[in-house]
Amino acid sequence: MSEQKFQALSAPKGVPDYVPPTSATFIAVRDEFANQARIAGYQHIELPVFEDTALFARGVGESTDVVSKEMYTFADRGDRSVTLRPEGTAGVMRAVIEHNLDRGYLPVKLSYYGPFFRYERPQAGRYRQLQQVGVEAIGVDDPLLDAEIIALADRCYRSVGLTGFRLELTSLGCAECRPAYREKLQAFLFDLPLDEETRHRAEINPLRVLDDKREDVRAMTENAPLMLDHLCENCRTHFETVTGTLEAMGVTYVINARMVRGLDYYTKTTFEFVHDGLGAQSGIGGGGRYDGLMAQIGGQDLSGIGFGLGVDRTVLALEAEGVTLDGVESRVDVFGVAIGDQAQSGMALLIDELRANGISADMSYGGRGLKGAMKGADRSGAHTALVLGDRELETGEVTVKNLETQTQRTVPLDLAAVIDAIFIPEDEE
Ligand code: HAM
Repeated sequence: MSEQKFQALSAPKGVPDYVPPTSATFIAVRDEFANQARIAGYQHIELPVFEDTALFARGVGESTDVVSKEMYTFADRGDRSVTLRPEGTAGVMRAVIEHNLDRGYLPVKLSYYGPFFRYERPQAGRYRQLQQVGVEAIGVDDPLLDAEIIALADRCYRSVGLTGFRLELTSLGCAECRPAYREKLQAFLFDLPLDEETRHRAEINPLRVLDDKREDVRAMTENAPLMLDHLCENCRTHFETVTGTLEAMGVTYVINARMVRGLDYYTKTTFEFVHDGLGAQSGIGGGGRYDGLMAQIGGQDLSGIGFGLGVDRTVLALEAEGVTLDGVESRVDVFGVAIGDQAQSGMALLIDELRANGISADMSYGGRGLKGAMKGADRSGAHTALVLGDRELETGEVTVKNLETQTQRTVPLDLAAVIDAIFIPEDEE
């Protein structure tokens, strides 16, 4: 072996690994969210992890932090500017337009999951590679669909056992009522003794000033006009139907008229799920309606609504609540313990045959003795150990040991006999 010592490498800053045993919880949460989406009629869409940079600039909005400060953008070898996707909605829209899915039956209901990339300042619950499960329902502007989406997100969290979260809800209005409200809000803000930077923010995105966490700014904006009080007739009835339907469905919510989302495309119904056990990064998921987004990226002028649920933060929220998911660790049913070279080879074939018959199985490797090999059986979570030593080899048999009851019997070294002994209790034979 070489004498040279290499320094160990770490994952890039802010990028999590998902290693056993917590990886099992991560997968279980992600899959359960995806399963709930499937039950609600959403079909899976698998999208590229990187796209043309222009898609996000146009779709998410140049003035957002996500686009202006947080994108992983680089030139590929052909000198095209590409970006690791910071979120999923723009990519779904691009694919829907490109494949004419919006020319068929509406709404188009799609779900997706995977990694997204944002160059944020890493801290607990805030990563540079984050995982979401998302859904989008495109092409129908129906408040019942808003309620479906919100109730689905609520069900996702509950189905993994999460309870300590709240749903915050508001309406951000539409192209008809928002501009007039924006002017009203700006007039209010420009009258305040704001510092230079906040004033600048009031010019570009006045809604953000309402979300300012500083005490003095909060106090100054306490009586600021709110979008919810300035909705047009259409937006108001839309929002009332959403809240009424959620109430009828038993989904509890609180109104947060000062909610600000980090992405520009939201209109009308907008929501966030917040968990108080997570510290500063309390948003476990969010979404809303986005009139205008499809047209913005070159498609028809169709509305849509969707959400993105943070899988990482949901796992942290489960930990904070002390909830453990049962039976999610990957275990095998059967574990082979073989002592001696010949027995090892025999066991490798037997284990392979069990797997070919759909039985999950593993074995001890590396010429371990009985004690070490049995430790492997314990760790594997198997309910049955197959023991093959000199004695068994001689008689052409294998010992089948039930690790839960600690009972054992010896059967011929033959696949059918072994399967029977694994699954049929002795007294039923
Ligand atoms: P978002 O609110 O930016 O929405 O992200 C959704 C969720 O992803 C957040 O609530 C949070 O749980 C998680 N998340 C975001 N950034 C991070 C991070 N740096 N580290 C860990 N978790 C994070 C969207 O992305 C929209 N595309 C959702 C949507 C779909 N709206 C309509 N359709």
